[in-house]
Amino acid sequence: MKIDITRKIPEYMETIIIFQEDHGSINNVDLLPSNIAKTVQTYIKSEGYNFAYGEIRNLTIISGTQKQNIILLGAGNKNELNNEKIRKLFASSIRLADKLKANQVYLFMGFISPINDVALGHILTETALMVTYKFNKYKSKDKSEHEIDALHLVLSTKSTRHLNRGIVEGRIYAETTNLARNLVNEPANIVTPEYLAEAAKQAALQYSFSIEVFSQDKLKRIKMDAFLAVGRASTHEPKLIIMRYNGNPDKKQETLALIGKGITFDSGGLCLKSSQGMLNMKSDMGGAAAIIGTMCAISAMKLKVNVVGVIAACENMISGDAYHAGDIITTMSGKTIEVVNTDAEGRLTLCDAIHYAIEKEHADRIIDIATLTGAAVGALGTEISAVITNNYPWLEQLKIAANFTGENIWQLPTYEDYKEQIKSEIADLKNSGGSFAGTITAGLFLKEFVQDKPWLHIDIAGTALKDRESGIYNYGATGVGVRLLTTLLKSME
Ligand code: BES
Ligand code: MG
Ligand code: ZN
Repeated sequence: MKIDITRKIPEYMETIIIFQEDHGSINNVDLLPSNIAKTVQTYIKSEGYNFAYGEIRNLTIISGTQKQNIILLGAGNKNELNNEKIRKLFASSIRLADKLKANQVYLFMGFISPINDVALGHILTETALMVTYKFNKYKSKDKSEHEIDALHLVLSTKSTRHLNRGIVEGRIYAETTNLARNLVNEPANIVTPEYLAEAAKQAALQYSFSIEVFSQDKLKRIKMDAFLAVGRASTHEPKLIIMRYNGNPDKKQETLALIGKGITFDSGGLCLKSSQGMLNMKSDMGGAAAIIGTMCAISAMKLKVNVVGVIAACENMISGDAYHAGDIITTMSGKTIEVVNTDAEGRLTLCDAIHYAIEKEHADRIIDIATLTGAAVGALGTEISAVITNNYPWLEQLKIAANFTGENIWQLPTYEDYKEQIKSEIADLKNSGGSFAGTITAGLFLKEFVQDKPWLHIDIAGTALKDRESGIYNYGATGVGVRLLTTLLKSME
């Protein structure tokens, strides 16, 4: 979809979204083609429609063989709007335009935006490109589904420089998020650890960051035994994917590590999941996808930061060689772990990835993002990701980023009392603290491996997938984390 700015609406145009405040009449009505203005004003009078928040209407003008779509979109009180409200409103109108099979869409915003031009261009673009994302490659029938060709923002701002900057940024955000969504939506018979590594290589080539992939032999040599134990039963070998982006080579500034959980399928291992519990486990690499997307976004935006992305990619399966409940494994850090549940596999891969990032890549800050615990879904549902940290000022920065992108987060505490739950009688730690406070105990487990480094842990078990269309998302992967982490990194330049 092409997205640009136009100052004038052509006399004949096929689809227009009229986005207005709720004060009875249309602002700047003289900028609209006269037939459109007339139709809308008649409608407003006869229906008592007043652009109340979220109220959306669809009018059609037919003249001869030509059809024009008018979509009325109520903004309500503009002073009560914020980024996320604008996203949701605009999303519903773009969805409607798409259903109407519109090709050229004009957005006529009849009021001065309560948010600045960069953010506005960004949000409108991001929303349009995310809402129209479709994963229909496996449908033989609907394959040739409709696509909107262009979105023209009709805005009378004097300078378009800021708006254009926002459009460029919004496109980067949406395209890299959609890339992550593709990786998550692809099923596990396609996305193996090797496929994920190849996809990361392609992304690295396209967005120009560097990449290295370690195969199983190398992983054995560097003793990532916790990671290897999880991947051992699969016929697909584990891969460690290391992506590097040095946006600030002069200033020997800190290196930030982004670690993504990359379980390409989580059967639960010998502590096998139920059929229902296993159903969505192709998405257990949602954290990895978020990291790949973020690497692409920060490279495209040329952010002045130094980042290493680390993904321990493997499949949690069963076989005669599967790791057992009760096994004691030695992590790369030397800490030993009693495996009390083979389904608590994510933290075993992550703890080695974190240790690798600190020791071998000299990371001095850590963010990990993972579909880690069902308990996070229980605690916060599907709209909010859980966050755990050892660094409050940094969390505040993440909150600001989340507020900008609309990817809700909520902090859970790390009271040391709960560390009791992951103490083992015969090893340094055990890999599950049982069913109480599962998200917190998983976080406390990872905290044991971050040493003294500032650390943010984001549990996206609830937010990585949608089971229905909602807001700017469609059924399937959300790509959660890409926009959030990119925004956080931008604030850390
Ligand atoms: N990948 C799952 C967590 C998950 C659950 C993600 C639901 C998305 C939706 C993780 O590996 C897991 O199985 N966690 C266990 C941990 C338990 C055994 C301590 C869980 O949450 O049940
Ligand atoms: Mg599991
Ligand atoms: Zn898992």
